[in-house]
Amino acid sequence: MGGDPAPRGDFAVLTDADLAAFREILGDDNVRTDARSLDACNEDWMRKYRGNAGVLLLPARTSQVSAILRHCNARGLAVVPQGGNTGLVGGGVPVHDEIVLGMRRMNAVLSVDPVAGTVVCEAGCVLEDLEHALNARGMTAPLDLGAKGRCQIGGNVSTNAGGLRLVRHGSLHGSVLGLEVVTADGTVLDLVRTLRKDNTGYDLKQLFIGAEGTLGVVTKVAMLAPRKPTGVDVAVCAVGSFADAVAALRDARTKLGDCLQAFEFFDRASLELVLSTLRGARDPLPKTKAPFYVVTETAVFGDGSGKGSVTHRAARRRVRAWVRSLRKRGVAIDGVVGEDAKHASALWNLRERISVALKHAGAVYKYDVSLPTERMYDLVVETRNRLAASTSASTSTSTSASTSAASTSFDASKVSVLGYGHLGDGNLHLNVSSPDGYHPGLEAILEPFVYQWTAEQRGSISAEHGVGAMKPRELAHSKDEASIEAMRRVKEVFDPRGILNPYKVLPPRLTEHRSK
Ligand code: FAD
Ligand code: MLT
Ligand code: ZN
Repeated sequence: MGGDPAPRGDFAVLTDADLAAFREILGDDNVRTDARSLDACNEDWMRKYRGNAGVLLLPARTSQVSAILRHCNARGLAVVPQGGNTGLVGGGVPVHDEIVLGMRRMNAVLSVDPVAGTVVCEAGCVLEDLEHALNARGMTAPLDLGAKGRCQIGGNVSTNAGGLRLVRHGSLHGSVLGLEVVTADGTVLDLVRTLRKDNTGYDLKQLFIGAEGTLGVVTKVAMLAPRKPTGVDVAVCAVGSFADAVAALRDARTKLGDCLQAFEFFDRASLELVLSTLRGARDPLPKTKAPFYVVTETAVFGDGSGKGSVTHRAARRRVRAWVRSLRKRGVAIDGVVGEDAKHASALWNLRERISVALKHAGAVYKYDVSLPTERMYDLVVETRNRLAASTSASTSTSTSASTSAASTSFDASKVSVLGYGHLGDGNLHLNVSSPDGYHPGLEAILEPFVYQWTAEQRGSISAEHGVGAMKPRELAHSKDEASIEAMRRVKEVFDPRGILNPYKVLPPRLTEHRSK
C-alpha cells in the first residue's frame, strides 16, 4: 500500500461555521453528515483505503463548486473530488479528514452533435448512462471499462482511464476536446471546445487529464463520440504460451486491421478464479486447459449496401476464418467466436469481471504496469518465483516472509498471483490475491520489487489507474527528479495552498505534511 499514510497536513479543521456556509451554498440536503453517506464516501471500492471525512458535499452546478472551493481555499480546508469511487489506487477517498466533493448530481448530457461526432456533458455523468444516450444517436463513448455502471466521466478524465477499447479510440488525451475546470481558489476555466483543431497556445486541458483531482475539479467534458458499430464480434482463443498470445496480437493487427477494437489477455489462474467466484461464468473452451487466453473484439460499420461495405454476417465469417487460421498455424490451440450478443457478452465477462472476482475473493494487491509487450508476463512469473522463494524456507504453510521488513506471518498457500490486461496496449495487470487480508509480510515481498523490476524495463508503474494514495512515494521509479519538480510547480500554479487532494500523486517533500 506504499507504506504508512502520509501524516496529516497543516489544514484547518471543519467547524459548524463551515457547515453553515456550505448549507448556504447547497441547501441542507446536499451537505451530508449522516453515517451512511460518510461511510460510503470514506471507503474505496476495494475496501483498502479508508479516510475520515466529516462531510460530503453534493453540488449541482459549476457555480456551487466554485463557491465551495473559494470557501475551502480561504479557510485552508482540504478537499477530495470524488466521482463514482471506483478508482483502484485510493485517489478518490480522503486520507485524513478532507472534505469529499461528490460530483454525482452534475450528470446532465448537455449536447450531442452527430455530424461532428462530439458530445458535451457534465462531469458526474455515469459512463454507462452516457453510452446509452450516445447509442440512441448512433454514437458511442470513446472508452469502455468494467466499472462503467458506476464510474463517472469526470473520474475517467481525471484518471485518464484507458479501458478495453484503447486499441481503437486511443487515450483520452486525444479524445477529450475540451474541459471546464474549477481550480482551488474557485476560478472557473472555460476550456470547453468541440473543435478538432485549436492551436491557441498551451493546451491547458491536457494538464487536468490524469491529474487525479490535484489541480482542479472537472465540471464539464467535451469529447469525441465515434460512430457506433453496426455489429461487433468477440472471440476467445486459447494459446499455449505468452509468446503465442503476442503472436496472435501481431497477426490480428495485420489480418483484422482497422476492424480491431480490443485485444486483451488473461491467464489460467484468472480464468479459474472467475469460474469459481462468479455465478453463471462458464469455461469458454472446456476441452482445453490452456495457460493463456486472448480476447478480441472486432467491429463492422457498414450495412453491406455501399461499395466496400460488408454485412455483419460477412464480418463474423471473417473473424471465424481468422480463428481457424490461428489454429491451423498452431498459434492457437482452440478458439470460439460469440454466436450472438448474449454469447459475446458472456465471453467478454470472463475478462471484464476479473477485478470483481478478485474483490469477491478477498484482499488483493493490484499492480498496473506498462511494459514492453513481449516481456509483460515475465513480471508475473518472477513475482510467483519470488513469492515461492521467500516462503519456501518455512516448514509449515503458515509462514513468515523472509524479507527483512516482513514480520507478520501469512498463509502463503492461499496467495495466488494472476496476470491479465490490455495486451494490445502493453498494459499488464499483475494481481496478488490474498483471501486472508492484507499482510505487511506479503507486501514487503511485492514492494518495491514490482516497481524496481518495472523501472529496469523502462516501463511505467502506473499504466492507467493513476498514482493516487498508493504510489506517490514510488513516483521516482517512473519520473526523474526534474520532472517531479516541474509537476510540483504546476501544482503551485493551480493550487498554491495545496488543498486539492493532498497526499495524492506528488511525493511528499521531506519538510511537507507537518503532523498535527
Ligand atoms: P473516482 O474513483 O471517484 O476518482 C478517481 C480519481 O479522480 C480521484 O483521484 C478523484 O479525486 C478524481 N476525480 C474524480 N472525479 C473528479 C472530477 N470531477 N474532477 C477532478 N477530479 C476527479 N481503469 C482503467 O483505466 N481501465 C480499466 O479498464 C478499468 N477497469 C475497472 C474495472 C473495475 C471493476 C473497477 C472497479 C475499476 C476499473 N478502473 C479502470 C479504475 C476506475 O474505474 C477508473 O479509474 C475510473 O476512471 C474512475 O472513475 P470514478 O468516477 O470512479 O473516479
Ligand atoms: C481491468 O482492466 O480489468 C481494470 O483495469 C481493473 C483491474 O485492473 O482489475
Ligand atoms: Zn485495465
